[in-house]
Amino acid sequence: MRGKHVLVTGGTGGLGLGVTPKVLARGPMSITIPYRSAQEVERMRGMLSPSDLARVRFVSADLTEETSVEEMINGMERVDACIHLVGGFSMGKVHEYPLDKWQKDFRLNLETTFLVCKHSLRRMLETGYGRIVTVGSRGAVLPGAQLAAYCASKAGVVALTQAIADETKGTNITANVVLPSVIDTPANRAAMGAENANQWVKAESLGEVICFLASDEAKDMRGAAVPVYGNV
Ligand SMILES: NC(=O)c1ccc[n+]([C@@H]2O[C@H](COP(=O)([O-])OP(=O)(O)OC[C@H]3O[C@@H](n4cnc5c(N)ncnc54)[C@H](OP(=O)(O)O)[C@@H]3O)[C@@H](O)[C@H]2O)c1
Repeated sequence: MRGKHVLVTGGTGGLGLGVTPKVLARGPMSITIPYRSAQEVERMRGMLSPSDLARVRFVSADLTEETSVEEMINGMERVDACIHLVGGFSMGKVHEYPLDKWQKDFRLNLETTFLVCKHSLRRMLETGYGRIVTVGSRGAVLPGAQLAAYCASKAGVVALTQAIADETKGTNITANVVLPSVIDTPANRAAMGAENANQWVKAESLGEVICFLASDEAKDMRGAAVPVYGNV
């Protein structure tokens, strides 16, 4: 990814803690990371070397708002790769699930993916080059009880990514989606304990898969939904 301009949404989140340093290690390139929480930005600043930090541009943005997404993406010199990590987990039985929560889950998982891909694609089509990597979930292809909103919205992310891959056939723009099981993040350790954490997918390990899909070398992979399950 030398010399590339890479967008990493959710780059300061739990998965981002593993992905952002992996992307930077493929440099020199510049990264744009939208954020909402200044605390997460400080955590990331504390992890990166001054030379890595010099290549990161943190931009305050709410990716559920189209104007915010558009401004952030228009502020980039080019968009060579778009790695969209933003998303979130939720649980609840269908017959008890409030509509507003369902809509919120779709906004966070599917609408942000649509908006970020839409505006990244516009820039990629100008240059004729791009790599899009989105994050689904194992639940998108193996839905489970009490996870309907999460699984349905992530299945939407898979369908959206594959539709983009089809739309960009014949160009040097690709789109692929990874399907993680459980990722070893601080939040998962806090919620579930660390007992089984050695079975989970390390954020750095998923970062390697994502970096490959975002690289020049993955030019012939289109519309792949890549399982990254670790030992779960
Ligand atoms: N963790 C897992 O076990 C697991 C398993 C399968 C799939 N996944 C998927 O992997 C991805 C990353 O998960 P994660 O564990 O890293 O989640 P996370 O720790 O909650 O990180 C998500 C990041 O997205 C940001 N974000 C959320 N809403 C945003 C918005 N509207 N605008 C801008 N930024 C926003 C969050 O910022 P704020 O903190 O400010 O909200 C945070 O930095 C998600 O798509 C998730 O569904 C995770």
